[in-house]
Amino acid sequence: MGLIECHSHLLPFVDDGVRSKDDALRLLDAYAQAGFDRVVVTPHLYNPLVTTRTQNIRTMFTWAYGEAQHRGVQLILGSETYIGGIADPQVLPFLNNFVLLEVDTVIEPLFLLHHAYALHKRGLTVILAHIERYRWFSVQSEVATELRKIGVYFQCNVDALKEKTVQHYLEKGWVDIIAGDNHGDEHMPARLAEALNTNPIILQRMENLFAKREEI
Ligand SMILES: [Fe+2]
Repeated sequence: MGLIECHSHLLPFVDDGVRSKDDALRLLDAYAQAGFDRVVVTPHLYNPLVTTRTQNIRTMFTWAYGEAQHRGVQLILGSETYIGGIADPQVLPFLNNFVLLEVDTVIEPLFLLHHAYALHKRGLTVILAHIERYRWFSVQSEVATELRKIGVYFQCNVDALKEKTVQHYLEKGWVDIIAGDNHGDEHMPARLAEALNTNPIILQRMENLFAKREEI
């Protein structure tokens, strides 16, 4: 079985990820060469710092899906949904029921627990993106403990693996997923493959988590 990238911005003309079709193709080549056979694209939704052309998501996904298929990679559509001021934010679940959430890096969002729990009650499995970025979040924070209790998975970015904050989460066994959050770096797939292969416990956890989940 190949590797999985479950957080990336590889659709051109959609968000702040890759800028052109050529760049997207270079990235797909790089993922295939690094041993990935599944790549989830997760366009930003509602992120106040990013303009997302949601009208382009389906067209670009259809185009990229075919290109990925030629390279032996299954492209899967998800979203990275920002939880902030929107009462009922939309999510695009991937592999049946995973949803990727992001939040403000500086201020603790008021309703993260509420949203995570509501999604959980809808049968969705929540992944909190790049936990190392949130200054208000730590292994000691109450909200982190509560999120773990309702089954939220924590994802860290490959390029943050050496950061002190990630070390705390690693020691506590709270890093479930390592992902690229790739916005256009063609060398990242190789770095991610290396990180996954040098963290076999997390790799196994990811294989278990994402095994047997068929795309609808
Ligand atoms: Fe992202």
